[in-house]
Parts: sequence; C-alpha cells; structure tokens
Amino acid sequence: MSRSQLATKQTPIEAKHYSHFKVEPLTGTFGAQIDDIQIADALNNDELFADIRNAWLDYQVVFFRNQELTPEQHLALGQRFGEIQKVGYAPGLEGHEGVWVQEYPDLYEGLVSDIDWHSDSSFRSTPTRGSLLYALDVPVGGDTVWADQCAAYEDLAPSWRNFIDGLSAIHDNMHRNLLHVLETMPADQFEKLRKYLPPSEHPVVCNHPETERKFLFVSELMTREIVGMKRAESRAVMDFLFAHQTRPEYQCRFRWEPKSLALWDNFSTLHRGIFDFGQGHRLMHRVSFNTPWTPT
Ligand SMILES: [Fe+2]
Repeated sequence: MSRSQLATKQTPIEAKHYSHFKVEPLTGTFGAQIDDIQIADALNNDELFADIRNAWLDYQVVFFRNQELTPEQHLALGQRFGEIQKVGYAPGLEGHEGVWVQEYPDLYEGLVSDIDWHSDSSFRSTPTRGSLLYALDVPVGGDTVWADQCAAYEDLAPSWRNFIDGLSAIHDNMHRNLLHVLETMPADQFEKLRKYLPPSEHPVVCNHPETERKFLFVSELMTREIVGMKRAESRAVMDFLFAHQTRPEYQCRFRWEPKSLALWDNFSTLHRGIFDFGQGHRLMHRVSFNTPWTPT
C-alpha cells in the first residue's frame, strides 16, 4: 500500500474564528493557546463562555497563560461546564469541595500513576467530561502531554477501523498497579474501594456526544482487556492500539508556568504527566466536571 493510500487523516486543523479572541493552534490536529483574555471573565459573560466552550470542542485541549483565578472562580467555571466531580485520588482543598490539590513529588509516592497514558476516570460508567487544571507552583520540567484520539482513530486504515468499531473493553483503575495496591492496602479497605469503584465496560471506539467525531477510548493505564478475546489476542490488539494512539503525530505537549491553565476534553484526548523533576515542587489545583453521557 502506498503512503498516500495510508494517509486517511483529515487536513490539519486551521485557526478558527471566535468573537472574543484569536487562537494559536499548537499542532496540526488539536490543541490551541488562547491569549489576551481572563477565563474568569466568562463567569459573567455568556458570549465569552460560549466562545471558550466552542474552542474547547474544536481544539479538544486549550491553554491560557497568566490567569488570575481564585478557588471559588475555579469551581464556578467548572459548574458552567457540568457537574463538579467531588471525589478524586488527590486531597480536596479545605473549604472548597471539588478543588483537588495535586502536589508533587509527594503525589507520586502514593498509588497514583498519571505518568501512564489515560483518560481520567474512564473506569467509571460516566467518565469525567473535562477538567480545568491550574498551576500555582511549577518546577523546571513536569510538562503534561495530551494525545488526540480523534486523529488517532481517523488515521487508522479502513480495515483496522472496521475491525475495532464493534469491540468493547474493560476499564479498571487497579489493573496496572494491582500488586502495589494489594501489598500496601488492608484487605477490607481494598474490598470497599473495589465495590465503590468497580471496572466498567466501554466501546473501544466512541462517538463524541457533541462533535460526533469518532475517537479511540482505550488507554494503557485503565484498559485491562478487550471483551470476548483470548488473553493473547486481547494483548496484541491493546499493544497495537496503545502504541498507535500515542504516536508523536497526535501529541500536544504543554510547558507549564505559574498561573497557566489547561482545559481539556477528557473523552477525545488522553494525557500523561512527565515526571522529570525529581524532588522539585509542583502544585496544581484541578476541577473536573461530569455530564450524564455514557460512552457509546
Ligand atoms: Fe489525569
């Protein structure tokens, strides 16, 4: 097959036009920086909020620099996008339920492994719709990388797309670090956690509820197995998809500064942290939001 026959991907995304700001696309397929606005102003400006929401849908992850944002405003913004997710793996900010405090390097000494590719809470029946991550203190390094799962799907050969279109997979937040969990967690606590956060089955290819684009919905951190396959078959399919969906062609890497903010679509993108900052201090506040959508 020639190179041009394999190139099924859509043309690179162009700069779209919004009334309140210009965007700077950061890659050929997704990701953009939005300059010269304060996102907190969208709390009292419906048109500005609509523009930001449209850019979020168009670019899947958008970035803002030099943002002044209080925890109250952070939560209020999340509420404009959906229902605030109140329980997470990181501690909450006192007096501000729904603002999670992600402080490193301590966080990496726990069970968290966000240095593996994932979509947040994909093990839930209603996965996280999106997140607003705000940097307060950042080291040199500690970037975050996102991967465009619409582009990854569209770039597959038609035969692969046909093959995976009808498959489903089990998402399990414990499969990757089960041994560590069992070695460090009392049995009754494990049983309780397992009942509270059981695995979920989702289609391997989902239809985006708003843009209607198809996207890959599997990841190395959360996806345990492909349903209805023998172990070796499931492993082979997952190994291919995990390698394919995170190729540099689908990546957008963001270098944090204090007061930077990232807003991402947690359905159509994966992300992972880059742990290259040793004992450096990294402090982030995160607000995540849900909608009733279940993957289809
Ligand atoms: Fe994450």
